[in-house]
Amino acid sequence: MKKIGKDFLWGASTSAYQFEGGFDSDGKGLSIQDVKEILNKETSDFKVASDHYNHWKEDVTLMAQMGFKSYRFSISWTRIIPNGIGEINKKGVEFYSNLIDELLKHKIEPVVTMFHFDMPNELEKIGGWANRKVITAYVNYANVLFDNFGDRIKYWITINEQNVLLLQGPIVGIKRPQNCNVLKHVFQMNHNITVAQALVMEECHKRFDSKVKIGTAPNISSIYPASCKPEDIVASKNIAVLRNWFYLDIIVKGIYNRILLALLEEQNAMFEIRQGDMEIIKKANPDFIAFNYYTTTTVKMNEKIDNYKLPDQERVFGFPGFGQTVSNANLAKTQFGWEIDPKGLKVTLLELQERYNLPVIITENGIGAYDKLEEGKINDDYRINYLKSHIEAIKEAVNEGSQVFGYNCWSAFDLISVHEGISKRYGLIYIDREEKDIKTARRIRKKSSYWYEKVIKSNGENL
Ligand code: BG6
Repeated sequence: MKKIGKDFLWGASTSAYQFEGGFDSDGKGLSIQDVKEILNKETSDFKVASDHYNHWKEDVTLMAQMGFKSYRFSISWTRIIPNGIGEINKKGVEFYSNLIDELLKHKIEPVVTMFHFDMPNELEKIGGWANRKVITAYVNYANVLFDNFGDRIKYWITINEQNVLLLQGPIVGIKRPQNCNVLKHVFQMNHNITVAQALVMEECHKRFDSKVKIGTAPNISSIYPASCKPEDIVASKNIAVLRNWFYLDIIVKGIYNRILLALLEEQNAMFEIRQGDMEIIKKANPDFIAFNYYTTTTVKMNEKIDNYKLPDQERVFGFPGFGQTVSNANLAKTQFGWEIDPKGLKVTLLELQERYNLPVIITENGIGAYDKLEEGKINDDYRINYLKSHIEAIKEAVNEGSQVFGYNCWSAFDLISVHEGISKRYGLIYIDREEKDIKTARRIRKKSSYWYEKVIKSNGENL
């Protein structure tokens, strides 16, 4: 059996707004996440989160204890440039600079995401990604990151989950204008994001030698037809483009997939492509694909659409004659109703390999659960089982030709879930806080963190 390479990047992930806290500390500006109305009043906002802003050194020490080879985190745009464009906040630059140095001191490779759902609120006021001015603002922000951290970062990720941001905007805190043609609006945003990240990829290649790599990080999930009816097969191909391939075909191959363009035309939702945009996009040439994987998606053809009972990750727009997502009775579910499908990770890795032939890194994968702290311990065997089965799937995919070069599970530490609070815990490390009571935010290693330490030490052999 072909084995995982010795330089494989074992680690875990976080995102700035879900983990850092310090939402207005040391000159940070507000992002849309800081001003978001929390719909479920029982759950926490993002103001203090896991208080990483005040615990970062201790957090890196814990990562080093677990033997991390990499740590994938995101930089908060408004900590660097409080208004999104304009003045740079020196204290914000200093925070990440110190964090990066500390990681490198412990030989942990930083894998840095430039944007993870936290649009500066000042830019949201002018329309966010729907406004082309934000393309310029993002490129400017990326240049500030290159100027300040480019000497130390080998792996850059432009955008986290462009597809989720578009398809599930309201869940991740992105408002849509009232009475707009939703499809047209979100695919205009998609086009603007694509142009923005293509410009940043080109700039990265111009500035740095080939040791510095840049890629994008959509949420990719293999799509299964609900049956072997030819209609369901067609639906699965259609939803696969809407859910996955549209965002990668364009940035990797420079082509907008016709399956979705045809739907947009039919729905009177074609977005504007300005002269010169396609040339910019064609020069993107990402060096790798990062992707987040939680579950697969099952699809059927339907005349009437009704998929809104599904949990967030399994829900996508459905259209009569195009397809819609349904639940899969063959799969077990997490406490939060997400389907668990390790085999699907193998399928996804092999599909990515076949379709794009690029190195890939898994930047999120994990299980959200109501962990319990009992007598100072968290016995999260369900998390060990989840991670173990997914790592087994990675090993099988490696053996069958996947060029996967890293696994960064979600998440390194407990953090605030996108819309289900701190009670939906994903971390290897427990954060001792409740939804409304921040307590001391003490860090406690869960059973899974000791197990993962052994996995890393044995390069995935000892599961
Ligand atoms: C991914 C996001 O969609 O899924 C993360 O990149 C998120 O930010 C993760 O936390 C898990 O989703 P949730 O809704 O359980 O927080």
